[in-house]
Amino acid sequence: MPKVLISDSMSNIAQKIFEKNNITVDVKTGLSEEEIIKIIPDYDGMVVRSATKVTKNIISAAKNLKVIGRAGAGVDNIDVSYAKENNMIVMNTPGGNANATAEHAFALIMSVLRKIPFANETTHKGMWEKKNIKGNELSKKTLGIVGFGNVGVRLSNLVKGFDVKVLVYSKSLKSRKEDYPHVEDVSFEELISKSDIISFHCKATKEGKPLISKDHYKKMKKTAYIINAARGNIVDEKDLNDALNENLIAGAAIDVFSKEPAKENILFNNPKIILTPHIAASTSEASVVVAEMVANQICDFLLNKVQKNIV
Ligand code: MLT
Repeated sequence: MPKVLISDSMSNIAQKIFEKNNITVDVKTGLSEEEIIKIIPDYDGMVVRSATKVTKNIISAAKNLKVIGRAGAGVDNIDVSYAKENNMIVMNTPGGNANATAEHAFALIMSVLRKIPFANETTHKGMWEKKNIKGNELSKKTLGIVGFGNVGVRLSNLVKGFDVKVLVYSKSLKSRKEDYPHVEDVSFEELISKSDIISFHCKATKEGKPLISKDHYKKMKKTAYIINAARGNIVDEKDLNDALNENLIAGAAIDVFSKEPAKENILFNNPKIILTPHIAASTSEASVVVAEMVANQICDFLLNKVQKNIV
C-alpha cells in the first residue's frame, strides 16, 4: 500500500481522501530538514504547501518518493529540476486558489485607494481623522495587470463592474486574446507608464531578477500604486521603498516578500505601504479546494499512473 507524508498544515480533507483510497497517510508538520530526511525514505508521495522546503538533501534521501504535490500554485519551495532528475514528478493545483488571490489583490487595491488601514487604526484610537482621509475611486482608472494566468484573468473579471480600463502585459496573451475582449494587450513599458494601479500576477524570473526597478518608477504616474500578491522578488523592495520616499509613485500594497516569513524588511513602517503576510490565497474555501485537488491528483497518480497538473 502506498504511503504519503503531509508535511504542512492543510485542510484535513486531503487526509480523508488518502484514507478513502486506502493510501496510508501521516500528517507531520513543522519538521526540520533533518527530521524529514530521516523519515522520507518511507514514503511514495509527499504533500506540501509553502512552509516545507523540498531541498536537494530531502530529495536525495527520498529513495521511494515518486511524487511531490504542492497544495497551491507556486513551486518555488521545491527543487523541481532536481526532483525530475531523480525521477519524481512534481504537481501543483493551478486555479485552486486563483479566486482567493485575485480577491485579495482587489481588496488591497481598494485599501490603498481608500486608505482603509489608516482609517481603521486611527478611528480605533478615537482620533477621528475624517478631514485627513480623502480617498480615490477605482472607477475610470487604468489597471495594469502583469501576468495573465488564472489569477490575472480572474482579477480582470472582478473589476468589470467598475468601469476600469484593463491593460495586460503577458507573453502568452497574443495567442488567446480573442477570449479576453475586455483587456488590452500592451508592452511592459506601456503598462508602466499608463496605469494608475499595477498589479503583479506572474511568476518570479528563474534568476530571481526583479521585473520592476528604479528606472521604471521614473516612468510611472506619480499617483500610481503597486500591488504585489505574486512573489516577493518580482518587486525590488529597496527600489520600491526609495520610489515611495522620493514621491515617484503614491503607494503600494504588498502581500509577498523577498524573504518569508518576513520578520524584518526595508518596507516595514513606511506609511505609504500596506502589508499583509502572504495571505492572498488563505481563505477557508481555497484551502479546501487545493487540499482536495492535490490529494485526488496524488491518489490518481499512485494508484492509476494518471499525471495531472505536472510542473
Ligand atoms: C500559491 O502559490 O499557491 C500561493 O502563493 C499560496 C501560498 O503559497 O500559500
